[in-house]
Amino acid sequence: MHEIDLKTEVPKRDSRYDRLAACLSAGTRICFDEPMARRTTLRVGGPADVYVEPAGEPELALVLKFCGENHIPSFTVGRGSNVLVRDGGFRGVVICLAAESFRHIEVESQQIRCGAGARLKAVAVEAKRYGLTGFEFLEGIPGSVGGGLRMNAGAMGSAMFERVETVRVMDHSGQIDELPPSSMDVAYRCCGLLKDKIALSAVLRGKKGEPAEIAERMNQFSRKRWKSQPAAPSAGCMFKNPVTVPAGKLIDELGLKGTRVGGALVSLEHGNFIINEENASAQNILDLIELIRERARTERGLELETEVEIIGDSVSIH
Ligand code: EPU
Repeated sequence: MHEIDLKTEVPKRDSRYDRLAACLSAGTRICFDEPMARRTTLRVGGPADVYVEPAGEPELALVLKFCGENHIPSFTVGRGSNVLVRDGGFRGVVICLAAESFRHIEVESQQIRCGAGARLKAVAVEAKRYGLTGFEFLEGIPGSVGGGLRMNAGAMGSAMFERVETVRVMDHSGQIDELPPSSMDVAYRCCGLLKDKIALSAVLRGKKGEPAEIAERMNQFSRKRWKSQPAAPSAGCMFKNPVTVPAGKLIDELGLKGTRVGGALVSLEHGNFIINEENASAQNILDLIELIRERARTERGLELETEVEIIGDSVSIH
C-alpha cells in the first residue's frame, strides 16, 4: 500500500492499460478510474485504475496473464459485500465475473452447478424450485458464488463449503483445475487457496426436500435476519467472531453501538455491523474499526480480526 498526495499527484493513465483494453474482445466490459464506491455494498472507496468484466474464461485468462507479465496488481470482487476499499482507490485491475457466462445455475438431481458470478440468493431460489434442501441459508447473503467461496460465507449455522463438491479455479497463468474442498485450505470465513486462485464455478450438493418446508425455512431465516441485522449499506459482519464471544455481542457489551466517526456508525441493531449512514468515507470506517479494536484489546484482551477484506491506498491531504 502507498499513500497518494492529492495536491501533488495528477493521475495520468498508464499506457499498459490501453494495451490491455486493445487485447480484449467486444463482449468484455472495461472501465477506467471506476469508483469502487459503486462496486461495494459499503458504498465507499476511491477509483480502481481499471475495472474489467471478462466475457468468459479465455478473456479472464488473458487479463490475468497480462497483469502477471506487466507486474500489475489485480483483485477479484464479487458483489463487493465483503470488501472495504480505501479512499485513494486501487492501483491495478479489479476483475468482476459479472458477465452472463459466469452466472449460470444448473440443477441436476442433487447437484447444482453454478458460475462464480451467480448470486447466492439466486442459488437458494433455484434450489427451492427444484426441491433441493441445504441452500436455504444462502437466501440472505448479499454475495456471489465466487465471493461466498472465497470467504466461506456462512449464516444460520451453515457455511458454503459444507455444500461444495468441487470448485473450478484459474491461476494467474490462466491454468484451470477442478479441486475438492480438502485441497483448498478451508477455514471459518476463509478459503486459503482462493487468496491466490480465482473461483470460476462450483458443484454444490444438496438433498431432496419438501418444497413447502424449504420455503418455510427460507422465510424463517429471512425474518430472523431482518429482525437482527440493519438494512442500511454495510459489509455485513465487520469482524470474525472470536472463539470466546460473538463479536457483535462483545461490541454491544462494550457499549459501542451508536458510536460514530463521520458518516460511519456502529449499528444500533447489531454491534458487528458498521453502516455507512451518511456519506461516510472509507477512512471514517477504518477509524471506527480501530476504535472498536482498541476497546476490545484494552478492556477484554481480545484481538478482533476483520472479516471484511481491506484493499487500496490511503489519501493524504496536507
Ligand atoms: N448479539 C448481541 N448484541 C448484538 C449482536 C449480537 O448480544 O449487537 C448476540 C445475539 O443475541 C446472539 C449472539 O450475539 O446471542 C450472536 O449473534 P447473531 O445470532 O446475530 O450471530 P453472529 O455470530 O453475530 C453470524 C455471522 C453472520 C450471520 C449470522 C446469522 C459471523 C461473523 N457472522 O453472526 O454473518 O448472518 O451469524 O446466522 O460469523 C457476515 O458474515 O457478514 C454475517 C453477517
